[in-house]
Amino acid sequence: RAAGRPLVVTGPGELRAVLAGRGRVGLVPTMGYLHEGHAALMRRAREVCDVLVVSVFVNPLQFGPAEDLASYPRDLERDLGVAGGAGADVLFTPDAGTMYPAGFDTRVVVSGVSEGLDGASRPGHFTGVATVVLKLLNLVRPDVAFFGEKDWQQLAVLRQMVRDLNVAVDVVGLPTVRAPSGLALSSRNSYLRSEQLERASVLSRALRAVQVRYAAGERSADRLRQAGLEVLQTEPEVTLDYLSVVGRDMQERAVMDNDVMNRVLIAARMFGVRLIDNMPLDPA
Ligand code: PAJ
Repeated sequence: RAAGRPLVVTGPGELRAVLAGRGRVGLVPTMGYLHEGHAALMRRAREVCDVLVVSVFVNPLQFGPAEDLASYPRDLERDLGVAGGAGADVLFTPDAGTMYPAGFDTRVVVSGVSEGLDGASRPGHFTGVATVVLKLLNLVRPDVAFFGEKDWQQLAVLRQMVRDLNVAVDVVGLPTVRAPSGLALSSRNSYLRSEQLERASVLSRALRAVQVRYAAGERSADRLRQAGLEVLQTEPEVTLDYLSVVGRDMQERAVMDNDVMNRVLIAARMFGVRLIDNMPLDPA
């Protein structure tokens, strides 16, 4: 294979053969259409592992019937370039029939942290995520798996699953990579035109306003949220799903404590696209 170009593997058997005896294995699970946020996970993974596997699988199980499974952006050639540039050794791209053959009938259901926020808005979503990630962990058997804080609740769900099911992997979460405007990078940003991307930065500005109010000592969830809502009101295109301040358990509370895991999360529809973002309230 060309230098810097990952080996493309689609079958579990070949994957086992390629990884045999290769030392410390890192996994970055993705749905492809890779961007600088994914690349940051890969570069970090490459620093602490001997071999890096990036999985690209658009997981039908985590999409609702009215969601964007069919239109989700796909470009394997481009993904090979980004993954190779960030140090990936293997690009694992199983097909849907490999992951979910006829008769597939098991689900991984995480309770608690998966129930509010995106779990409430997207029924079954986190069950689909937990199921596919456990399958990927079993197929790749990595020592370390890397996830982005961009999907904060997903990270909490996966940590809960790994703990509860004694999965032998270290889970590492890494900070959100943003555009200069503040907009969190996302594969779904490709649905937006440049003027729309600029306007979508209102979501990160709202989070930032909550962060600033928290830093000033405000601990009332209503008043913290109000600081964000004032920013959102400047942009008529925002259809808010939720703006929530939560603790490490993903629960809203009337008065926040001073936990370093406190977080403000947002989900909103803009220009027909559902966008999510979050920020720490207690940045170190
Ligand atoms: P995907 O949206 O492709 O994201 C893959 C990984 O990249 C996730 O861990 C996500 O949190 C991280 N990521 C996305 N945007 C990021 C950004 N701007 N900065 C830092 N990290 C970012 O999340 C999924 O796929 C799927 O649910 C998956 C876990 C692969 C299961 O199907």
